[in-house]
Amino acid sequence: MDDLLNVFDYERRAADLLPPGPLGYFAAGAGDEWTLRENVSAYRRWTLRPRLLRDVEHVTTMRTVLGHELAAPIIVAPMAYQRHAHPEGEVATARAAAAFGTIMTMSTMATSSPAEVAAAAPEAPRWFQLYVFRDDGVTRSIVDQAVEAGFRAIVLTIDAPYFGRRERDIRTGWLIPEEPAVPALESALGSMRSTSVTEHFKLISPSISWRDVERLASETRLPVLVKGIHTAEDAVLAVEHGAAGIVVSNHGGRQLDGVAASVDVLPEVVEAVGDRVEVLVDGGIRRGVDVMVALALGARAVLVGRPVLWGLAVDGADGAQRVLELLRDELQLALGLCGCTSPDEVTRAHVARAV
Ligand SMILES: Cc1cc2nc3c(=O)[nH]c(=O)nc-3n(C[C@H](O)[C@H](O)[C@H](O)COP(=O)(O)O)c2cc1C
Repeated sequence: MDDLLNVFDYERRAADLLPPGPLGYFAAGAGDEWTLRENVSAYRRWTLRPRLLRDVEHVTTMRTVLGHELAAPIIVAPMAYQRHAHPEGEVATARAAAAFGTIMTMSTMATSSPAEVAAAAPEAPRWFQLYVFRDDGVTRSIVDQAVEAGFRAIVLTIDAPYFGRRERDIRTGWLIPEEPAVPALESALGSMRSTSVTEHFKLISPSISWRDVERLASETRLPVLVKGIHTAEDAVLAVEHGAAGIVVSNHGGRQLDGVAASVDVLPEVVEAVGDRVEVLVDGGIRRGVDVMVALALGARAVLVGRPVLWGLAVDGADGAQRVLELLRDELQLALGLCGCTSPDEVTRAHVARAV
């Protein structure tokens, strides 16, 4: 693994290892994949403004996010079907996140149960990503499983009333196999369980509205973060409807092709929300300097998606942990070279729009 020096090296190695179907599913964006590419390239449109001679002998990457003290402002994004990347799937990702010192966000569509993920790293904080289903009982049962298994927050994904059209999947013809199963959903479905895995997404409610956010926030004891916010307007509504945090996200370019890179809408969301709730961002983070830019634009932390999957595919829990460590080490160096001894010292003045 010594020749894997950065996230892109892991991406290339994973592409060599994974069969075309799962690789296409993990890598895909919607439509022309313009937003997918933008998420990454938009970070290059911001330049750093280092401040010098500030004694950076001791630099920490530690950051508190929604009350959790993390090794770095880098959280694992929710991603479905991880056992198609590695046989240990989400359980390995949970171990990696815990060993690194951060939160793993588990997907509703995980191929391990909430209890299995909890058992993999009992002491570590973990969040649960929720889809709202047409059947209220199904949604409630999934939330109950997450609460029971000790998850510390619900991350409600709001950008998927319909699923994006990903042409890579159509080309490879890969349909999500029946095995491994999706335990949280299958247990919630109970007697409706005969539905096949490919039909699962049709059970998600396209009539989801702000009422669901409000209800979830008031009925659940856990803080609710709203994931998929793109605009200042919806950020304000999220706060008004009880969100404890916001994730600026376009689902890694997998839903609506043509929306702006998430880092480009981060400033308007941060400005609209002020310090009422913490704002996180995901999409396109591939380098520690990207994390630095996100922090400078007001993100409390970032979520990282595909890079963790590439690490998982290459070397299970060790690979996923290594990817997180590479990003942390790059961030630590960027902080020091920008004259900051911790993420808390990063300000808007540390970045400028590239011309
Ligand atoms: C293979 C894959 C599966 C995903 N599954 C989910 C999911 O189940 N729920 C969700 O809210 N987001 C899901 N996402 C979106 C991620 O949480 C995150 O928003 C995105 O991957 C961030 O972009 P990045 O991959 O460029 O880091 C998925 C992303 C990928 C790549």
